[in-house]
Amino acid sequence: MEFSEVVKDRYSCKKYDGRKVDKDSLQKILEAGRVAPTAKNLQEQRIYVIESEEALAKIDSATACRYGASTVVAVAFDKNNVFTYPGGKRDSGIEDATIVATHMILAAYNEGVDSCWINLFDPDKLAEALGLPENEEILMLMDLGYAAGGAGPLENHSRRKELSETVSYL
Ligand SMILES: Cc1cc2nc3c(=O)[nH]c(=O)nc-3n(C[C@H](O)[C@H](O)[C@H](O)COP(=O)(O)O)c2cc1C
Repeated sequence: MEFSEVVKDRYSCKKYDGRKVDKDSLQKILEAGRVAPTAKNLQEQRIYVIESEEALAKIDSATACRYGASTVVAVAFDKNNVFTYPGGKRDSGIEDATIVATHMILAAYNEGVDSCWINLFDPDKLAEALGLPENEEILMLMDLGYAAGGAGPLENHSRRKELSETVSYL
């Protein structure tokens, strides 16, 4: 798929047909996350692929936003392995994990796999569900799968601001 199509046509899918993501496609999605850039190349992301019925049920206890997806990826990061920028007020954890997740979501669409970024979850319940170690923090959940018949972009997908509203040339 053309890159311009991937970035424009990807949308947040909120109704899946329940099929697990094809193994080869999943591998390519994970690979796109693996090669993402991170500050100082620390690669502090930690990725959990959730596919068993038991684990998916635990995900449901922490979020109402699985939408029938049978493959969910949790993107976390190791808080002990982040780069703290000079001044000590910011570190790389959230942004590096965000770049990884964005690579994966775009790779998914390129593979014909629909997705949705999920931030509405109970972090404590989710950490318990995943058996997350103390040093890891979850950035997001990624629903992955194939849109159910009739599902498609919501109306707000095409409602983006004009460049003139967000870009300044100095
Ligand atoms: C950072 C982020 C967090 C989001 N969290 C949720 C969520 O918890 N639940 C949900 O249904 N959709 C969530 N979404 C999807 C948005 O509702 C959707 O992306 C937005 O309305 C734009 O639509 P589009 O992705 O189809 O263009 C999230 C999207 C982003 C980028």
